[in-house]
Amino acid sequence: MNVLIIGSGGREHAMAWKVAQSARLRKLYIAPGNAGTMSCGENVLLDVNRHSDVIRFCKEKQIDLVLVGPETPLADGLADSLSKSGIRCFGPSQAAAQIEASKVFAKDFMARHHIPTARYAVFNKLSDALEHVEKINYPVVIKASGLAAGKGVILPNTLEETKSTLEQIFVNGVFGEAGNEVVIEERLSGQEVSLMAFTDGKSVIPMLPAQDHKRLLDSDLGPNTGGMGAYAPAPILTVDLMNEAIELVLRPAVDGLRSEGIPFVGVLYAGLMLTQNGIRTLEFNCRFGDPETQAVLPLLETDLLDIAEACIDGTLSDLTIQWKDGAAVCVVLASKGYPEKVESGKLVKFYSLPANAICFHAGTKFENGEVLTSGGRVFGLTAWADGIQSAVEQVYENICKVSFEGMLYRKDIAQRALKQFSYADSGVSITEGNRAVDLMKGAVKSTYTPSVLAGIGSFGGLYDASVLKAFDNPVLVASTDGVGTKVKLAASVNRYRGVGHDIVNHCINDILVQGARPLFFMDYFATAKLTPEVTAEVVTGIAEACKEAGMALLGGETAEMPGVYQPNEFDVAGTIVGAVERDNILPRKDLKEGDVLIGLTSSGPHTNGYSLIRKIFADTPLDTVFPELGGSLADSLLAPHRSYLPLLYPHLSRVKALAHLTGGGFIENIPRILPDDLDAVIHLTSWTPPPLWKLIQQKGNIATDEMYRVFNMGIGMVMVVDKTKVDEIQNRIPEPTFIIGELVKGEKKVRLTA
Ligand code: AMP
Ligand code: GLY
Repeated sequence: MNVLIIGSGGREHAMAWKVAQSARLRKLYIAPGNAGTMSCGENVLLDVNRHSDVIRFCKEKQIDLVLVGPETPLADGLADSLSKSGIRCFGPSQAAAQIEASKVFAKDFMARHHIPTARYAVFNKLSDALEHVEKINYPVVIKASGLAAGKGVILPNTLEETKSTLEQIFVNGVFGEAGNEVVIEERLSGQEVSLMAFTDGKSVIPMLPAQDHKRLLDSDLGPNTGGMGAYAPAPILTVDLMNEAIELVLRPAVDGLRSEGIPFVGVLYAGLMLTQNGIRTLEFNCRFGDPETQAVLPLLETDLLDIAEACIDGTLSDLTIQWKDGAAVCVVLASKGYPEKVESGKLVKFYSLPANAICFHAGTKFENGEVLTSGGRVFGLTAWADGIQSAVEQVYENICKVSFEGMLYRKDIAQRALKQFSYADSGVSITEGNRAVDLMKGAVKSTYTPSVLAGIGSFGGLYDASVLKAFDNPVLVASTDGVGTKVKLAASVNRYRGVGHDIVNHCINDILVQGARPLFFMDYFATAKLTPEVTAEVVTGIAEACKEAGMALLGGETAEMPGVYQPNEFDVAGTIVGAVERDNILPRKDLKEGDVLIGLTSSGPHTNGYSLIRKIFADTPLDTVFPELGGSLADSLLAPHRSYLPLLYPHLSRVKALAHLTGGGFIENIPRILPDDLDAVIHLTSWTPPPLWKLIQQKGNIATDEMYRVFNMGIGMVMVVDKTKVDEIQNRIPEPTFIIGELVKGEKKVRLTA
């Protein structure tokens, strides 16, 4: 048969290479193709925007089948035009291609068919979008609804950055027309995996799962690109997860499109994220992925032409699709300057490759008998072997067989897959210190935002301060603190992760009361003798809390100090750096008589008063269950310090001051925000301290004043608000709050009254 492939990238070279192996092929054309596709068939110059030209060409050359590589012609209705003229096309109709071409369509479609995805909202007006981001309290991703050549997704790190991004889109039009409508969705975290499937509109046959590498530099650093490499199969998508992805994502999508009268024929690509709460769909594409296809098609045994025809004929369920055993790895070789402005026209030199490797061309052209570079991503060098490890070795061994001036590539493609194996069988062969770092590395890296330029493993963490450009007058706010003797209780019952949350949330609250939002965190962990699992638990807790706050864990130190600490003991401290707009620094200057104090509940003693608590309960085993506590003493005493960031950050413009009740309780902490001529009156009957405090007071025989000097008594944070704003604030905060007192004339003191 005669076949025409539309497109000119690495994906299309891989498609052409595969089609060229078919016994059924008579003649292959590629429009426009590149210097690589010339060895698979004949490159032809066709304007794919002019459907009549493509149809005329197909009739003239008696084309039996058209395979469309990229999304743009599909979104423009090329498949519809071809089939109307009786030409068979592998690729979805314009209506079905909306699943990629319109993010709004895709998100609404997923909602209609209960396909798991991130929470979202759609906006076409700046003011509505701004109001929305002020209201919500989770980190977001901003997406242009239309096609934006892979550049339509922005991951802002702060509320300020979110707002300025929205202004850029709506006012300055940075996404062009694609940004007339914008999706704001929750930013999720987890490993990503690309699962492509063949479908005839009814049946779905998945391909091997693959992983792309979107960042330019090793260790997933640097800017986002079109993809710097890929490998397949991705072991992270286990058999169970694969079944889940088919049942929860691919099948409902194919059934949903059919039920809406727009059956999808072609390759449906699901971009998935494996989150702690299960699989989530980040996006659908209406075509083969690039560069995933360069790693997937070399492993396909079945004739691609048979598959394409079965999809068009609706007979896919009759076909068995076979894959080679083993794995393939594709490393993208890019031009200097990529993904920004690149140098083109460089001469490429090739040496012969072994039979299990191929150099797929992307941005190349053939001129005067020579291959020249003509784009950002120039080649996808791919090797396949009986396992990922050997495929990685083969591909990197052969990189020297291709060369051009300014060639760049990542050295760590597929390392993630290898690590998943080496974790399991790493045993004791590596030193304990390395093992601790290995165990915690994943959690630490999961906190990285695009601002992290260098993190774990470097001498110093690098944080891109250009996030501060979103502020008019940025002020950095920093604070260091420790968990204190709560660590001793935690160590005695082997509960480590909560301590990580304690230190981070304590620090977050300390800068929140100055109006700041966190940027990054550094931790310090010291112990008598390093147990990698314990260290990793604490650091994982630290990373979890950082991630919840949208803050990067930029670095830290683990110290082994036998003789300084007792065996089995450890200490944790940390430093936070955040930023605040200069005009928004808290406390404000306008505190006055009559302002109202509103208290927010704590989750327990937080990180204060533990020296006293330990003395009081010295003879009580921590697993003792107290009915009034509803559980064990350990549960109550080790409840992690809560962060007030998500609750309060959206409302900071409405408060005059915040006091974090840490060491020194009410008596020491509230005066820190008072001017010299005001006192704070606290009405002790205005809330009921949880039963833990009564237990502590009775067992320790402690005076009431002393309780309020040492502990938070169930109130972890105090807001000072104008009395006219009290109702509004209480209504906006979605949990019980207590009016616990007011400001009166005085001398910077706290007065406790009944
Ligand atoms: P997309 O074009 O939708 O795949 O987005 C490009 C990249 O942005 C994805 O591969 C992710 O790395 C990231 N991304 C998109 N949506 C989200 C989300 N909801 N949460 C976290 N990251 C996301
Ligand atoms: N590799 C991502 C894509 O093809 O969209």
